Amino acid sequence: MTETAVYGIGDATFQAAGGETGVKALVEEFYLQMSTLDSAKTIRAMHGDDLTVTKDKLFRFLCGWMGGAKLYQEKYGTIAIPLAHNHLDIGTEEVDAWLECMQKALQKQNYPEDLQQYLLKRLAIPAGLCQTRHS
Ligand code: HEM
Repeated sequence: MTETAVYGIGDATFQAAGGETGVKALVEEFYLQMSTLDSAKTIRAMHGDDLTVTKDKLFRFLCGWMGGAKLYQEKYGTIAIPLAHNHLDIGTEEVDAWLECMQKALQKQNYPEDLQQYLLKRLAIPAGLCQTRHS
């Protein structure tokens, strides 16, 4: 019988994603995709040239978001994802581009298919909340 993983309970998602090492690799690949894909040019341009701090922030945020330690809070304080994006011009194309980078990064991680799908579906929620332009 094949086991079906239950994500979202405790740190199950974080562990399935490979813990800190796994999340770090995911974030690296995510920004590599963002720097490579034509469809992500606009959102890449919203970031500075040096992505070191941005990568650290997303890595730390995702660890806590997946049920691991609250590493973002420890270093940078509290965060509300939609508020943190309020100053940016984000329409549906930018949301889609962000999710496309994440989808491609997830595909490179050697994660089980159901984990990839779970994460993409769950990340679409905060991504949608980051939309600031609705016309
Ligand atoms: C929907 C499309 C999104 C776009 C276009 C976008 C873009 C950006 C940009 C341009 C920054 C500033 C980076 C910098 O100053 O170098 C940023 C920061 C950040 N983003 Fe996003 N983002 C999106 C969605 C998300 C989502 C869904 C999450 C989390 C699941 C997220 C997590 C973060 C975090 C943690 C920061 C750092 C915020 C801070 O400490 O001020 N972003 N994002």
